[in-house]
Amino acid sequence: MSERADLLGRHIVLGLSGGIACYKSAELVRLLTKAGATVQVVMTEAAEAFITPVTLQALSGRAVYTSQWDAREGNNMAHINLSREADAVLIAPASADFIARLVQGRADELLSLLCLARPRERCPLVVAPAMNREMWSHPATQRNVAQLQADGAHVFGPGDGEQACGETGDGRMLEPADLLADLIGFLRPKTLAGKRLLITAGPTFEPIDPVRGITNHSSGKMGFAIARAAVEAGAQVTLVAGPVHLPTPRGVQRLDVMTAQQMFDTVLPQAAQHDVFIATAAVADWRPATLAEHKIKKEGKKQAPTFELTENPDILAAVASLARPPYCVGFAAESERLLEHARAKLQRKRIPLIVGNLGPATFGRDDNSLLLVDADTARPLPADGSQADKLTLARALMDELAARLLRA
Ligand code: CTP
Repeated sequence: MSERADLLGRHIVLGLSGGIACYKSAELVRLLTKAGATVQVVMTEAAEAFITPVTLQALSGRAVYTSQWDAREGNNMAHINLSREADAVLIAPASADFIARLVQGRADELLSLLCLARPRERCPLVVAPAMNREMWSHPATQRNVAQLQADGAHVFGPGDGEQACGETGDGRMLEPADLLADLIGFLRPKTLAGKRLLITAGPTFEPIDPVRGITNHSSGKMGFAIARAAVEAGAQVTLVAGPVHLPTPRGVQRLDVMTAQQMFDTVLPQAAQHDVFIATAAVADWRPATLAEHKIKKEGKKQAPTFELTENPDILAAVASLARPPYCVGFAAESERLLEHARAKLQRKRIPLIVGNLGPATFGRDDNSLLLVDADTARPLPADGSQADKLTLARALMDELAARLLRA
């Protein structure tokens, strides 16, 4: 999924304090600039012990700031000037010492000084802690992090795993790609804050015997993109996924299932606790009536076997007919007469909104175009009928959903 241009027009001050994770910040600068952001790197003296300003200047295309006495600034006020244009200040890595300095409001070197001097209401401070697990779990650090959040800062991570010191545990800085994804999400408008979304995605797999089954070409990409866009918009997201090999979007609670029946059994008990249900899954309409205990062998058979099929439960229709259903959004993957079929499904399943797309043209692809169909209107997405990548479409769909929830 492309991250390109997600940060176009954004200006990020990237602060590095001292820690071995500084080497990852070089990659982070590359990812941020590839996503369209301009990046101004500011380093503490300790950070310079781990990576040189030359590397970060080359990657960001801007001279790095390391001192509050930098004579390049006309008014000699780097600490003021640097944050005035920034959309966010991201400290990555944020060492235990640097976090303690922020909590105390220290101002004796450029990076903590500019964090203190930034206009808080329009330039958020985000820290990505990076330290040994004992340092991270120490009550002093935990107290400092809690205070930092109480003061309005945001914390990304830390992750867990192997540490440079050879120990294993919490405290690793998040990987650059994760920091990028979190920052992109962080800067998006929170139109679905406080909403709980339940999403199905991917195909189902209906077993015939222990090695064979019936499935379809759904890749799950649209449902996963919707889950990511919903988290970015501030929603709490549960994603019930059929068998797909896609990474779980950050911040999403994922429940893996195989068959339509399992998807039904997972979704139904949860549905009433959600505000919205989005059924993107390509659920198999039928399954083999019986499951062979052992592999069906070709050997010794004169004729090809035949299979009796039985109908699977309709998950979307069942959720929509609950006593107090969530706002239900269906998907219609059709091969022809999209509007007609979509509207028929809307009525049959008694749901307020259905998203139509031409199935064979979209399965597995990154680009798509959608048709939003309700009882009275049909609107293409993108509006000009062109194609867009699935994350862009998912974000537009979440905007549309937020507007409809306000009206509902
Ligand atoms: N759906 C579902 N459970 C099923 C079948 C479908 O939740 N057992 C949902 C899909 O996730 C999608 C919508 O219903 O949101 C439309 O699914 P589709 O299979 O295209 O519609 P059908 O009602 O099965 O109609 P048809 O097969 O005739 O196209």
